[in-house]
Amino acid sequence: MRISLRIRRLVLPAALLTLVVVPSVILGATPAHRASAQETSAAQVAAGEGLYQTSCVSCHGVGGVGVAGKGPSLIGVGAASADFYLSTGRMPLPAPEIRTRRKRPAFDEQQITQIVAYVASLDPNGPPIPAVNLAAADESRGGELFRLNCASCHGFAGGGGALSDGNQAPPIWDATPTQMKEAIRIGPGTMPEFSEKQLTEEDADSVVAYAEYLGNANNRGGAPLDYGGPIPEGLVAWLGGLGVLIVASVWIGRTR
Ligand code: HEC
Ligand code: HEC
Repeated sequence: MRISLRIRRLVLPAALLTLVVVPSVILGATPAHRASAQETSAAQVAAGEGLYQTSCVSCHGVGGVGVAGKGPSLIGVGAASADFYLSTGRMPLPAPEIRTRRKRPAFDEQQITQIVAYVASLDPNGPPIPAVNLAAADESRGGELFRLNCASCHGFAGGGGALSDGNQAPPIWDATPTQMKEAIRIGPGTMPEFSEKQLTEEDADSVVAYAEYLGNANNRGGAPLDYGGPIPEGLVAWLGGLGVLIVASVWIGRTR
């Protein structure tokens, strides 16, 4: 048959195009900025100071000393606090009296690294961004600790809730493991901070593991693909779905 011959001639180039070109375009487009993060830390501090002068100095003052009635001192809050407040989009606040809440970050990853480096440079004793070690975590112990220490404010499922002072404990479902551990250690806003005496490193990691489980507990099953979102899922559809269709159509063409 002429038609099937023509289709067969088109099948191989089409297969190559979908299997090679499309995924490499998708893959190549995403992690580009990560590679460029290799700067010297002095350069990072300098770049961070520049961003600080335009976006933070009005409330936190020159050198991070704070401004009465506008913003607290940042000396000694460390990379942990700066990374939490910037990566959850809480800072910069639009106005001093506005309540902090999670938003889309105002800066990209590289700029956040730079501002965090600058804030950390204000006091070498400030706490660094905490490391999370989920391999050593015990999820069921984390569940116990969560119900004991966190559920009173954030709810048993982590959905958040009203606090007695008119404040709001936010849902914790969107927090990354690092942000979760940062919140535990720094105690943002009216949340208490949990020192290593109250929650050891292993306990804190277990709480993080459990809280992550809560965040993903309502998924519909199937392979989560590392929760990478639509790009890896689309990739699997291209590679798996289309690949199978193409192979099947070539095979059908051959057998006739
Ligand atoms: C309009 C004023 C305002 C601006 C602009 C602002 N902040 Fe803040 N910032 C505040 C206030 C008020 C708080 C205290 C909020 C709270 O604790 O709920 C705060 C808290 C913080 C904290 C937590 C400090 C601690 O005790 O742990 C950090 C870190 C921070 N800001 C960093 C920044 C950075 C970095 C920028 C610039 C990108 C910035 N802020 C811009 C007003 C501001
Ligand atoms: C007394 C109430 C209270 C307790 C107890 C408490 N939190 Fe919080 N938590 C808060 C409040 C209030 C905020 C919001 C702070 C802000 O935005 O300034 C918060 C913020 C957070 C965030 C940031 C959420 C986001 O997506 O931005 C995380 C994560 C978090 N808490 C985890 C925990 C964990 C884990 C525990 C237990 C170890 C805990 N909290 C215990 C009140 C509480």
